[in-house]
Amino acid sequence: MPLDRVDGGTEKVKSSVRKRADAIKPFICKNLVAVIEAPSDVRNIGTVIRNVNALGCEKVYVVDPATALPDEWHQMREERALTRTSVSAVKWSFVKRFDSTDDCFDHLEVNNFHSVVTSPHIKGQKSIWLHEGDFTEHSKLAVWFGNEKRGISSRAVERSDACVSIPMFGMIESLNLATSSGIVLYEITKQRRAYQSVYRKGRGRSKRSEPLPTVMNREDAQK
Ligand SMILES: C[S@@+](CC[C@H](N)C(=O)[O-])C[C@H]1O[C@@H](n2cnc3c(N)ncnc32)[C@H](O)[C@@H]1O
Repeated sequence: MPLDRVDGGTEKVKSSVRKRADAIKPFICKNLVAVIEAPSDVRNIGTVIRNVNALGCEKVYVVDPATALPDEWHQMREERALTRTSVSAVKWSFVKRFDSTDDCFDHLEVNNFHSVVTSPHIKGQKSIWLHEGDFTEHSKLAVWFGNEKRGISSRAVERSDACVSIPMFGMIESLNLATSSGIVLYEITKQRRAYQSVYRKGRGRSKRSEPLPTVMNREDAQK
């Protein structure tokens, strides 16, 4: 194939990627971070990154005491286990690793983030059902998900504002990381997009004259 045809093809792909990146920008929930605490299986990190990217959450933090991940995001983007399980979402959603739960909380708190943890069990001072929570109260919010076996740590519960549960109706104790992060982030991003559509920035800040759309129109969504 002549080189100019190949280059033309590459340019076409680049411009459609750019178009998509522009179209999704207004729908991304700024200052919303998903935190995965000490996951045992790197593949689960990939599945959460996929949910984060798909639902329009801004970033992923990973508490990674076992040093399963490289330090820098650009290195993570080369990790096969992450690119495969996240279907390349790791290339688009920023990921940062921390050595410990306290390091991650310190970083979040210095940057004025509030945290909520998730668990199928009642934990801490304030336990709420997902559908009863108001997740627009704080302009900067981190949502924590626990280890596959141990669940969320008592230290994370201690340093967070509330523990959020998805109601369970079966005989089993809990959902897996991919499913629970999908359900929780769906509800939270939906609430925060609705809020962002009405208010310019932060709670009680000026109301927009016209609310922004909260979903992409169907033609743009299919591009
Ligand atoms: C497989 S579960 C961990 C089960 C663990 N035995 C426990 O006690 O939490 C992994 C993570 O998914 C999330 N999760 C699972 N089911 C949930 C539910 N019903 N409500 C909220 N979060 C849930 C929590 O973050 C939990 O730490």
